[in-house]
Amino acid sequence: MIPIFPSSAHPADRPVRLPVPHALRKALPSSDRAEAALAQAMDGVGIPAIDVSRLAETLSGSTGHAILAAPSCWTDAQLRWAYVVILHHLGDLNGRYGKLFDVADRGLDHTTSNAPVSKTKAATGMHTDSSDAGYNPDLVALLCLQPGASGGRSLLADAQALFDRLRLAHPELVSVARTPWPRDVVTPGLTSCSQAIEENAIPVFSEDAHGLVFRYMRYWTERAMAKLDRAVPEELTRLFDFIDADMEKHAVRFQLRRGDMLVANNRTMVHGREAFENAAGCAPRCLVRAWVDGFLDSQSQALSLRA
Ligand SMILES: [Fe+2]
Repeated sequence: MIPIFPSSAHPADRPVRLPVPHALRKALPSSDRAEAALAQAMDGVGIPAIDVSRLAETLSGSTGHAILAAPSCWTDAQLRWAYVVILHHLGDLNGRYGKLFDVADRGLDHTTSNAPVSKTKAATGMHTDSSDAGYNPDLVALLCLQPGASGGRSLLADAQALFDRLRLAHPELVSVARTPWPRDVVTPGLTSCSQAIEENAIPVFSEDAHGLVFRYMRYWTERAMAKLDRAVPEELTRLFDFIDADMEKHAVRFQLRRGDMLVANNRTMVHGREAFENAAGCAPRCLVRAWVDGFLDSQSQALSLRA
């Protein structure tokens, strides 16, 4: 029997914004103390008590995301401190790529190497985070320190609503969406060979005790098939084409501004980024990514034990 997921109730033309908790503003360290406070907060020390119940409710409900807009006049260290404090109240920061990972153009090309798209200025395509079948972060978060000179709009799409439309329009593709398909192994520390890629198989749609789990990375799936010397099945291409067209039509597009903290449920929300450009005289684009475990049931895993 195919479970029915409720469609999103929030208006889909703009992202949901919530106020920064007042207690967080009151506890903000002065600019000259912010670096030290940040270092402590990264270790879970000196975290002020704040109420994140509204944010947590929004993330676990049908909305699935929220943006908290901190004042742009706060220093980078103050913004990072506030970001860590909020995320600390939602779960545990995952350290796989570093607890805070700066998403910035490093002049790399993900099409000719295993470099993650997060180190390029290219459009990412719509996706959920983590290409590892054994690990799926509950929450993905982005703090905007600098939006860059041009481009780089963020995109969000609701996977539950997408699934409802897939069932109605193409019920024959539901079983394809529930089939585990290989995904390329690109996580640093994990062995990438044909057997590892075959075993790194993930369904696009599944569900567990918490509900829907949507995991989508078209690029890495098609590249896995190429590395395995297998043609992409026609029905899988049809599924991907439907999903991409649906998200092209329904995704919310918006520009993150300095101080914006976007937090999204990585099981029910799909995200992406349009291509961007930096320019002389304009601070280069820099977003700080974090993965949060333990909001539902994802758990930090030491890569050295899994490689
Ligand atoms: Fe991402």
